[in-house]
Amino acid sequence: MVTHKIAVLPGDGIGPEIVEQGIKVLKALETHLNCNFELEYADIGGAALETSGVPLPESTLKLSLEADAVYLGAVGDYKWDTIEPERRPEQGLLQIRKALELFANLRPVKAYRPLLHASTLKPEIVDGIDILVVRELTGGLYFGKPRQKEAEKAFDTMLYTKPEIERIAHVAFKLAQKRSHKLCSVDKANVLASSQLWRETVEMIAQGYPDVELSHMYVDNASMQLIRNPKQFDVLLTENTFGDILSDEASMLTGSLGMLPSASLGEHERALYEPSHGSAPKYAGQNKVNPIATIMSVAMMLDYSFGYSEAAQWVDAAVAKALEQGVRTYDIAEPGSQVVGTSQMGDKVVEGVLACCEQQARL
Ligand code: IPM
Ligand code: MG
Repeated sequence: MVTHKIAVLPGDGIGPEIVEQGIKVLKALETHLNCNFELEYADIGGAALETSGVPLPESTLKLSLEADAVYLGAVGDYKWDTIEPERRPEQGLLQIRKALELFANLRPVKAYRPLLHASTLKPEIVDGIDILVVRELTGGLYFGKPRQKEAEKAFDTMLYTKPEIERIAHVAFKLAQKRSHKLCSVDKANVLASSQLWRETVEMIAQGYPDVELSHMYVDNASMQLIRNPKQFDVLLTENTFGDILSDEASMLTGSLGMLPSASLGEHERALYEPSHGSAPKYAGQNKVNPIATIMSVAMMLDYSFGYSEAAQWVDAAVAKALEQGVRTYDIAEPGSQVVGTSQMGDKVVEGVLACCEQQARL
């Protein structure tokens, strides 16, 4: 039997309760896949600050480096708002992304039919959207040096090297080839030097992918177009900060930030899966929030890290089925619908996944 080692880092706030739902889904698949998901838990973010005084302890990093995949909940809590910036819980997340060299963050934005009314946009605008945001994850403002904060002055550096742009562009073009062969690269090349290099480099890489139709868009326009006519987009490629902002915006097309999974990949086999949303500390421990983004991150793990693409589709189908049956967490509920908690949504998806396994076994 194959064993897949997963480093599980629940983190803070709602992290532990949403991760638990994804783990239930993984465990439900073990028998059918004839494999063993070996789970090793470790702290990150505020949870790690409590136990070891740093947001990413050595032991957590070591476990993550040795694992076949990392599964993360969320980091951050108000109670750490006044701590020195280098020790903020968010640093744990940034450090692990950097240490594992996970430069490619994939955030699929898909509209589920039963949720069309959950979006703040008109149903006909969001119906059928299927966008993949490819966000560069280890460069730009998040990591650029120098950075400094003084009493009267502060600055960050938006730095990109050509190789950093090349490698993320390759990822995006390859993904576009597997989808509708359309790629829109988002930048601010009318103002920023880093964006000018970004655009030139993306154009150069495009020559190796003549079957992909490349377009460029300024980020301000892209953020407007995303809510004006989101269906024009398929793969969106962008740098770290723009990707952070645009992916939160894009999540609203699906109805809720709680619907957006993510996979962070690099050149090595390593990968990290986490929902695109934060730790929502005010909802922690209430069995209230939507676990779908975290569960769908498991689907991405099954597909990208372990090659179980069929099982990944079952998870997707089980989520779709639960939604079709009217199962809703509060964030995606329409008036009058029956609202369930985090773990009930998880159970529903598990039920759907097991049904897929049984159906398959009968064939
Ligand atoms: C995300 C989050 C993180 C980011 C935070 C928590 C540091 O917003 O994954 O989008 O900015 O990358
Ligand atoms: Mg974000």
